[in-house]
Amino acid sequence: MKILIAYAGNNNTTQDCANILKNKLHNAHVINLAKQQPDISDYDTIIIGSCIRFNEIHNLVKIFIRDNMNLLMKKNTAIYICCGFPEKANQYLLHNFPKKLLNKSFSIQCFGGNLKVKPYKILDLMIMKIVQKNFKTNEKSPTKIIEENILEMVNDIEKLSD
Ligand SMILES: Cc1cc2nc3c(=O)[nH]c(=O)nc-3n(C[C@H](O)[C@H](O)[C@H](O)COP(=O)(O)O)c2cc1C
Repeated sequence: MKILIAYAGNNNTTQDCANILKNKLHNAHVINLAKQQPDISDYDTIIIGSCIRFNEIHNLVKIFIRDNMNLLMKKNTAIYICCGFPEKANQYLLHNFPKKLLNKSFSIQCFGGNLKVKPYKILDLMIMKIVQKNFKTNEKSPTKIIEENILEMVNDIEKLSD
């Protein structure tokens, strides 16, 4: 089974998650949508990864889904998002992804994210400070990558070939 992980993020988390996932799978390729537009007809399984900013997925992910929707409906699909407030993941998913894609995806996960933004971009830092203050999050324990959810997706992928 050929697997594609197509992702877009603003900082590093979505990319780090794509690489963690790839390293736990056989025959998976990672493509950053900011660098390459993949031909998904080459793959059986497509995993779409996006960061969340201001409640929205990355614009390149929106474009990727729009341009490949018909073919995506014929593939095994999975979705992950990276965000600072995993408790709002369902809201982000429903708001951003076409319902028919959500309905047919065999695995949908929130892989968490970082509220301390690296590399440090001054505007991002300022925004996250305000966001953290509003949500009264504890600066000492910012949201992190949720490894169990990555493992859950790996399990779901393994079940496809059982
Ligand atoms: C400007 C900005 C806006 C953000 N907006 C949201 C948001 O609306 N909801 C949320 O849960 N997390 C939000 N976050 C947190 C990001 O989703 C988190 O930092 C995630 O790890 C980003 O993934 P990336 O590193 O691949 O870009 C925001 C972060 C930044 C810097």
